[in-house]
Amino acid sequence: MFVGVFMVKKVTVVGAGTMGHGIAEVLAINGIKTNLVDVKEDILKGAMEKIGWSLRKLYEKGKIGRSPDEIMALISTFTSIKEAVRDVDLVIEAVPEIFELKKQVFREIDANSRPDTIIATNTSSIPISELASCTNRPDKVLGLHFFNPPVVMQLVEVVRGKDTSDEIVKQMIEFVRGIGKRPVLVRKDIPGFIVNRIMIRLLNTACILVKRGIYSIEEVDSALRKIGLPMGAFELSDYIGIDVLYFIIDSVRSRGMAIEPCQVFKEMMDKGKLGVKSGEGFYKYPSPGTYKKPDITALDRADPALLISPAVNEASYLLREGISSLQEINEATILGLGYPKGIFQYADEMGIDTIVNSLKKLNEITGSTEFSPDPILLRMLELGRTGTKSGFGFHEYFQENQMETIKILYRPPVAVIQLNRPEKLNSISRKMLDEIKKALIDLSSDENIR
Ligand SMILES: NC(=O)c1ccc[n+]([C@@H]2O[C@H](COP(=O)([O-])OP(=O)(O)OC[C@H]3O[C@@H](n4cnc5c(N)ncnc54)[C@H](O)[C@@H]3O)[C@@H](O)[C@H]2O)c1
Repeated sequence: MFVGVFMVKKVTVVGAGTMGHGIAEVLAINGIKTNLVDVKEDILKGAMEKIGWSLRKLYEKGKIGRSPDEIMALISTFTSIKEAVRDVDLVIEAVPEIFELKKQVFREIDANSRPDTIIATNTSSIPISELASCTNRPDKVLGLHFFNPPVVMQLVEVVRGKDTSDEIVKQMIEFVRGIGKRPVLVRKDIPGFIVNRIMIRLLNTACILVKRGIYSIEEVDSALRKIGLPMGAFELSDYIGIDVLYFIIDSVRSRGMAIEPCQVFKEMMDKGKLGVKSGEGFYKYPSPGTYKKPDITALDRADPALLISPAVNEASYLLREGISSLQEINEATILGLGYPKGIFQYADEMGIDTIVNSLKKLNEITGSTEFSPDPILLRMLELGRTGTKSGFGFHEYFQENQMETIKILYRPPVAVIQLNRPEKLNSISRKMLDEIKKALIDLSSDENIR
């Protein structure tokens, strides 16, 4: 695969577990020769069986053109990193989230690969720059954060380390697009990147509100389902695993994010109630590891703005700090969390005033400054940018009046006449001139338009 002038012909994935085998499958589906490494033959055998099973399913559904056997033939397995990284263009590390282990693996990759090989990590919480400093090529080290399962999830967070070069970032964004995924650039190596930071704000706040007896678990989840989220906060916590969730929150907290893990997660962990994997978490499941969507009675008591406002606040912080763009953050919440619309669209629809008031209320309830409204939100309020109701929020909104050849975008005191014959490359017709004339006459007598 060409990435600019650079060619990615061969990739090594280190670690054939949950993420590694899925990433190897994605690469092979896209025609890339892939080396897959793990510590034992039987783990590799299991990983290849899972890849084969998944490819057969995709083939039956017509989602891949080439046969599973042809794709499997592109993957070679290894039990030695040294052998596996010798002549590849890119290495993606996906070993367990243990700092010492990752450092050792990075040293081994660095010592045995070509000097121009790019090294990426799939870490969720370890600083990229600290892994980069174990190598002699920190400019060629970055994060490629895939989501689980990699074959299904479209999003990849491309995380820039302190020393990652512009060229490598550019190449890897193209590479991610080339394997059919949507890259979102995380411009600074911030703990939790984008998706996990936004997600844990919502899950942790939901837990705090239940712990304080303000809402019940079902009231929260019912309210979140009602605004279109694919899972309520407690459904999702169970699905992720209460231990994994607690670990994520605690590790980003220890790296400086202002968030205090809800103690209910810790209490549940101590009781072995880990969610779907243990058969019980906030909800009960048929057996350990068997997921069944919880039946939740539709209840109308919980205020969705109170629940979602900390996630909006976090997204505003990411935007203000230049970690990512508005469009990319919206996209990250849609593709990484399955929201039907971007987090900033939710904010605009609920109203920036409502979001700020909700944050102030959370501040009062908890006494914690972690809910202080971000300066972006306060500034928007000052400017009257309250969202869809004022026509301006994080986005701009116009009322649309569609005619046959033109469109009138209306937001007093402004109206815009837009030519709308794309199929004729907007060439001017008699009909269009008549419609423009009529629109101008109507608008000039409209006292709301200046
Ligand atoms: N599981 C997820 O949902 C998820 C999502 C995004 C990112 N991540 C990140 O991806 C990485 C991998 O997570 P996972 O869930 O796939 O873990 P996993 O435990 O399922 O798999 C890790 C694999 O690495 C292998 N391994 C251990 N030491 C090794 C070594 N020295 N050389 C080669 N292989 C070695 C293990 O045998 C295991 O098969 C972690 O950094 C994690 O934070 C996980």
